[in-house]
Amino acid sequence: MTLNINEIRKDFPILQRETNSGARIVYLDSTATSQKPVQVIEAMNEYYRRSNANIHRGVHTLAEEATAMYEGARERIARFINAASSREIIYTRNTTESINLIAYSWARANLKAGDLVILTEMEHHSNLVPWHMLQAERGIELEFIPVTEEGLLDLDVYKTLLDRTPKLVSFTHMSNVLGTINPAAEIIKLAHAVGAVVLVDGAQSVPHLSVDMQALDADFYAFSAHKMCGPTGIGALYGKSSLLEAMPPFLGGGDMIKEVKLRSFRANTLPHKFEAGTPAIAEAIGFGAAVDYLTKVGMKEIAEHEHAITEYALERLEEIPGVKLFGPAADKKGGVAAFTLEGIHPHDVAQILDQDGVAVRAGHHCAQPLHEKFGIPATSRASFYLYSTKEEVDMLVNGLYKVKELFG
Ligand code: ALA
Repeated sequence: MTLNINEIRKDFPILQRETNSGARIVYLDSTATSQKPVQVIEAMNEYYRRSNANIHRGVHTLAEEATAMYEGARERIARFINAASSREIIYTRNTTESINLIAYSWARANLKAGDLVILTEMEHHSNLVPWHMLQAERGIELEFIPVTEEGLLDLDVYKTLLDRTPKLVSFTHMSNVLGTINPAAEIIKLAHAVGAVVLVDGAQSVPHLSVDMQALDADFYAFSAHKMCGPTGIGALYGKSSLLEAMPPFLGGGDMIKEVKLRSFRANTLPHKFEAGTPAIAEAIGFGAAVDYLTKVGMKEIAEHEHAITEYALERLEEIPGVKLFGPAADKKGGVAAFTLEGIHPHDVAQILDQDGVAVRAGHHCAQPLHEKFGIPATSRASFYLYSTKEEVDMLVNGLYKVKELFG
């Protein structure tokens, strides 16, 4: 079934607005953050208007309602990614915090000097810097699966790196620059065969693809609500319960304890053991509403729609003289088109496009080493989601012709 885009767009109030110069917003920056449907905005609004209270602490009506809403969202998030249990879903602030939780808790308990962690050259800074920090502190070793000219991971090199028996393999399921959808199941299976634990950065994959934790068999999987129609300030870490149980807590404080004495504490059970302090309650409820929304639209339909838009965008962008696209062909990537326009700085491109309401991101997109690999400091990046249309791609292309004209 194809998506009824006109109906979907009506759910997103922001898509109806204009810029200060009166141009209609053409939002092509969903990889940075997605827009939010009215269903998510209203779920959070409703919580504040009707049920606001702290969770897990009170027996009064409002506290019970708030707790049920917060925990109910967790259940639905667990189902959305087919986790075996909602105990395996830890609320965090975002993907970055989920990865840091693993670096601070699991890695500091399990890695020692000389232990190898395999990453890839296409990682976002959030899956690089925590490991740089641990390298400086512990002396762990880092190796990187190279990215080919086409923008794919070189799995032959990966297989040779595995001979060095890494302790951890951590990689992005979908690149936020190249759009590459990595063969996660295969990478995980190969890592497990040598006894490595696997962490997946799912910030870009969970919003756009159907992901199934039990089928993938990842040990840890990190993602953010704000890239999948939900609010900022909340994300999740999926972890296999056996691993989470064995890990020390991350942050200490209220709610993450069973019992506290003056000189000691006993940690709470999962998932609360990793959720210290009053959490982002409204945001968790918004996260649940986002998952409901995406489920109702259909993840398969969303992926198909984005594929059609991406295929069209790549075709149209390729026809512009001076445009160089990065990343593989549409059948190997999600809805991301990063490009350069010969002789014109990506920031200038983005600024001129903005005059006609076309929003793209320009810069290194928190993936400086990847840009260095391709020998460029920055790219312009258009990215698509369930509400993107071919007309918006046409507006982008027209805008790029205008940029070329202006810069002669
Ligand atoms: N990681 C986000 C992006 O790629 C912010 O734009």
